[in-house]
Amino acid sequence: MSWIVRESGFDPERIAHHGNKFMIGNGVLGYRGTLEEFSKSELTATIVAGLYDQVGSKWREPVNAPNGLETNVFWNGTRLSVLEAGNVATGDSAVKSESAGGERDRSRPELVAHEQSLNLRQAVHRRRSVFRTGDGAEVTITSERFCSAARTELIVCRFTVESSQDGELTIVTGINGDVWDINGPHLVRMESGAHAAGDDATWEVVSLTASTQELGLPITVAEAAEVASGGEHEVLREDLSIRRRIHVRCRAGEPVVLVKAVAVVAGLEGETANQVQAAAIQSAREARQLGYDRLLSEHAEYWERKWSASDIIVVGDDEAQLALRYSMYQLHIIAPERSEKVSIPARGLSGQVYKGAVFWDTEMFMLPFFLYTQPEVARNLMMYRVHTLGGAKRKAAEYGYEGAFYAWESQETGEDACTLFNVNDVFTGRPMRTYFRDKQVHISADVAYGIWQVYAFTGDDRLLLDGGAEVAWECAKFFYSYGYFNPRKQRYEILDVTGPDEYHERVNNNAFTNRMVKECLRIALDAMETLKRGNSERYEQLLAGSHIQPEHIRDMYERLYVPEPDAQSGLIEQFDRYYALEDVALPQLKSRMLHPHEYLGGGNGLATTTQILKQADVVLMLHLFKDDYDPAIKKANWAYYEPRTEHGSSLSACIYALVAADTGSPDWGYPYFMRTATIDLTGDAKQYVGDLYIGGTHPAANGGAWMAAVLGFAGLRYDGDKAVLRPALPSAWQAIEFPVRLGGGSYRIRVSREEVVITAHGDNPAGLRFTVGEGELAVAPGQEVRIPV
Ligand code: BGC
Repeated sequence: MSWIVRESGFDPERIAHHGNKFMIGNGVLGYRGTLEEFSKSELTATIVAGLYDQVGSKWREPVNAPNGLETNVFWNGTRLSVLEAGNVATGDSAVKSESAGGERDRSRPELVAHEQSLNLRQAVHRRRSVFRTGDGAEVTITSERFCSAARTELIVCRFTVESSQDGELTIVTGINGDVWDINGPHLVRMESGAHAAGDDATWEVVSLTASTQELGLPITVAEAAEVASGGEHEVLREDLSIRRRIHVRCRAGEPVVLVKAVAVVAGLEGETANQVQAAAIQSAREARQLGYDRLLSEHAEYWERKWSASDIIVVGDDEAQLALRYSMYQLHIIAPERSEKVSIPARGLSGQVYKGAVFWDTEMFMLPFFLYTQPEVARNLMMYRVHTLGGAKRKAAEYGYEGAFYAWESQETGEDACTLFNVNDVFTGRPMRTYFRDKQVHISADVAYGIWQVYAFTGDDRLLLDGGAEVAWECAKFFYSYGYFNPRKQRYEILDVTGPDEYHERVNNNAFTNRMVKECLRIALDAMETLKRGNSERYEQLLAGSHIQPEHIRDMYERLYVPEPDAQSGLIEQFDRYYALEDVALPQLKSRMLHPHEYLGGGNGLATTTQILKQADVVLMLHLFKDDYDPAIKKANWAYYEPRTEHGSSLSACIYALVAADTGSPDWGYPYFMRTATIDLTGDAKQYVGDLYIGGTHPAANGGAWMAAVLGFAGLRYDGDKAVLRPALPSAWQAIEFPVRLGGGSYRIRVSREEVVITAHGDNPAGLRFTVGEGELAVAPGQEVRIPV
């Protein structure tokens, strides 16, 4: 139960949304949830993690590989496509004109039933479409596909056609290199090939090989396709595609089954075009030999393991149950399990939106899920920042600072893909100056914070010794050079920044930023101590010749100004003089808008002169540093800032859910949790900023949903030493149960209204101390402990 996400009926308006909603992936490849007969106008996409390209001076973005799943079916010469069929289920024009007395085109097939679904447990996408053809046959197309978790270069599809009558069936299937691009075309020198498959020359492997424009990186998509019952078969080549036409005499009630194995291999590590092509062909061939069932079962085994490490059971709330699983599914399909060279982009692998760039979303919103369930992935994510330190140092130098200023929008080398004019004005079409790239300096502190989290969590200092300490140190140096010492107030300040609330650019002493910087300085000092112990030579090297030494960082740490709660109201001012801005209600501000997509920030955006904020800012700080603030302070700030928050970013609502749960008001938090957890199910998120399309999946919200459930409602926290559980279940939930990895051990935690049950795996290396309510207890390996609440 609650493992299936399903949509019935076909609505052309929902093609883009379903492309996101029904995505499949394996961390290396992401394949949008489009249908086999779709092409670039329906936004088909095969995204390869870590492969980027730039055309001229257009935005640099991920490469969309040739579509190897494209398949079209012709029944007695007529194409069966949801795009062309009359739609009985939703009543499109063809059907309507008939009922209005018009002549229906009888040769046009009708779509009598259509369904798309995802099996989350196995990460398999299915579609089923039933067409009634002009000659009265009922033809059912079903397909099942997955991005293999076992062989990450592979997408596998089983495509079945079954008819109620005998007839001539033609299937045209292959690789289409004419793909959807936002700033393309990225692939040039496209060449097709047909390669005999050893003993059986009929079902050769076909391929398309091309290279990227900017760096000339090779990519091959190779396809092995086979119809079990045979049939006539011919290869069709065009400039940008290679397909095969398979002709079958179809008998009533006898399904024709096409199995396709599509290998997508890119030369990310300097491989030549020949090597890439050979690897793709080899993979497709092997897959064909293994057969669909074997491929599916090895894939499903991987997913079994992912779920046993992460699945959450919510008792009493089926909607939340499905939404949570779905959120975790979305994170699993984009997790770099086997690479530390890529991280997770803000739109996952769902397309080219946001330039396929990695933002602070990863450290602050997705990392906790992986930390608590698969710490190896969390480590990979942070190693990506170690590998991109060079880009961060170049960015700091470019602006005249020391140390490392991480990219606001990071791609494979850590160079900043964020442009100075990142939004277009909807009214004039002109580029608007934005200060995300130059002023959202908290990114460097977020990176250091992520590194420390992984270290503290795993208790393993390798990440620090393998470059993590250096990253933290360089980030601290950056802040030391960016900070300003106010001689009058005898304190350090951080001026001219943009905090998480992007509607207020270039402000002074943003509370969140200052607090994060303070944390970064602390982390850098501690991490350097670890480095000194573990690798004194490297420690000395890092300090040699620099005018910034640990005593400087310590001084800044001790004297850095962090805005404090007001003694009376408990409120923390978001930045200097925030209260002086117009205090307008959100609906009133919205009523001033002249265009539904107008950008509220930037130079003269409507929110800039008001207290309306884009997303959780002070409240995010209260979540991250929850021990530093009393519940009354948290409540006061939640109540003040929430009505002023537009939640214009998908990163916002989950933070309000977390702080509500933390202050004992889970029912306040619940709607924010649901909004976060269902974002990619409903598609209810901003699609445009200015004239920029920003649709796609929302992994930060997916991670936020997990955080709200486990860290919020179950109230779990682990600091590397002991675990704390302070549950606050929403009324709709009777219990929540989940696995976690803490301090190298595996635990299962069940929180109900009556009790907390903690079960430690027998293989755990040691026991762990838990604080539940007022009590503290140790849970030994293999032990199950019940604590009444
Ligand atoms: C948010 C940022 C976020 C980015 C990518 C923006 O709308 O304001 O905080 O990093 O989207 O998700």
